[in-house]
Amino acid sequence: MKTLTNDISIKTEHETLSSIIRSRRTIYANAYINKQIPKELLIEIITNATWAPTHKRTEPWRFIVLEGKHQEKLGEFMLGYYKEYLSEENFPVSQYEHTLNYPKNATLVAVILQRSKRIKIPEWEEIAAISCAVQNMWLSCTANEIGGYWDTSEAAISYTKHLDLLENERCLGLFYMGYPDPLSEKPKSKRKPIHTKISIHSI
Ligand SMILES: Cc1cc2nc3c(=O)[nH]c(=O)nc-3n(C[C@H](O)[C@H](O)[C@H](O)COP(=O)(O)O)c2cc1C
Repeated sequence: MKTLTNDISIKTEHETLSSIIRSRRTIYANAYINKQIPKELLIEIITNATWAPTHKRTEPWRFIVLEGKHQEKLGEFMLGYYKEYLSEENFPVSQYEHTLNYPKNATLVAVILQRSKRIKIPEWEEIAAISCAVQNMWLSCTANEIGGYWDTSEAAISYTKHLDLLENERCLGLFYMGYPDPLSEKPKSKRKPIHTKISIHSI
């Protein structure tokens, strides 16, 4: 099927998919502007996450959207956390303001691993499934010109201790989303040459 893109060129579906996959970048929250992601779009992005494959269909996840005062609270929490755990050399006073304001324009989604009580699956398979779900979310963001960033830092995970997770649940980080400043340059990324990653064995 052909689709009409913004630049009026015609792309096949596979070209569009390759282009979205290869243009996905980690866009950190300091690049986001003060523009809300519409609720229906946010739900669509998270719904796409749930279309990831799962072994024995366990769907081992839950996504908690942190709204309201959470951006402010997360900034305060990270400031306190880094002050406590990092030396002044690694976390100088000049970074306090930046840390405090860092999440202010982000939509925050806590990624929760929810182990099935019914079906026994190795944990790594459940984490693999969640990683597929996060990638779906990330690619959906890219397709909607929204930046994304998966923060798996201890500070981010510690923040979610306030969320009263159940005993079969564990937070695997925060997924940040936001509209990047159109004036900021898109981060560049590169990958090792493909011949170093593929070998074809034939017998
Ligand atoms: C599982 C996972 C965890 C990540 N955690 C962090 C993190 O805690 N902090 C960070 O700065 N980037 C984190 N990243 C983003 C990577 O640093 C980023 O994907 C990598 O630099 C490649 O850049 P790209 O996403 O633009 O291709 C994480 C990525 C993945 C897949």
